Amino acid sequence: MEKLDYNILAIVGSNNPKSYTYKITKELLERIKKEKFNFSIEIIFLHDYDIKYCHGCMNCFNRGFCPLDQEDEFNIIKEKLHRSDIIIFSTPVYAHALPGIMKSFIDRISSSLHLLEYAGKLGFTVTTTEGNGQEVVSKYIRGLQSGLGIKNLDNFIFARLKNEFKSFIESSSSDFIKRVEDNYGYSNDLLEDSFIFFKKMFTGVHEDIELYQSLKNKYECNYWNQRWIQECDSFQEFARKNRKINVK
Ligand SMILES: Cc1cc2nc3c(=O)[nH]c(=O)nc-3n(C[C@H](O)[C@H](O)[C@H](O)COP(=O)(O)O)c2cc1C
Repeated sequence: MEKLDYNILAIVGSNNPKSYTYKITKELLERIKKEKFNFSIEIIFLHDYDIKYCHGCMNCFNRGFCPLDQEDEFNIIKEKLHRSDIIIFSTPVYAHALPGIMKSFIDRISSSLHLLEYAGKLGFTVTTTEGNGQEVVSKYIRGLQSGLGIKNLDNFIFARLKNEFKSFIESSSSDFIKRVEDNYGYSNDLLEDSFIFFKKMFTGVHEDIELYQSLKNKYECNYWNQRWIQECDSFQEFARKNRKINVK
């Protein structure tokens, strides 16, 4: 890939002030930075941010904004997400699912799933657990990255009862660097399929015409009908243009 320096942003989804997931993510990023000094690293520890619960008003889908963004600190998070090149979703497993704080974060970016808003970024996930429930959580957050338009490159799972901290950091950091260096472009088959699906759905080409009628004139429909998107023949082209708009 043509790029040599990357802004890496990790979202750590634990509300525990002594979060193990934070500890492991920090160590992993510092290790990567030691090897690749031209990579910049940043962690958003959700515990430190005021994030209100989604009210379910649907404004984000229908009108393109969230009223809560004016009331809490979520805009800071969104801005950092937009500016990053690589996004890591780091989460512990709570009751075979995500902690509430991580789910709140996801709820607040749900409308981005209909826009492939983070197209042009690469992604990784880190899941920490005592020893069970990790597969379902890892699969879920990996799927979310693809849904957001992020090209997922690898997924690390740390089971505290099974894995050893130091060797996990060593192997994950070298895998991380290898995946980034071996990567080419921002696309894969899944992302290309999603792009075609949304383009068709929001321009009325999709077979479900009733669905289209219900979406017509809503924010996401107007979004997909913008000329710069309509002119893209592939996700890769869309992702490159999207980067130009968002990554300063
Ligand atoms: C409320 C709660 C529920 C948990 N549920 C699970 C679970 O279902 N399976 C498991 O293996 N570990 C479970 N754990 C353990 C955590 O996943 C594990 O200790 C994790 O590394 C904690 O990360 P944190 O300190 O960043 O929150 C749970 C911990 C808590 C606090």
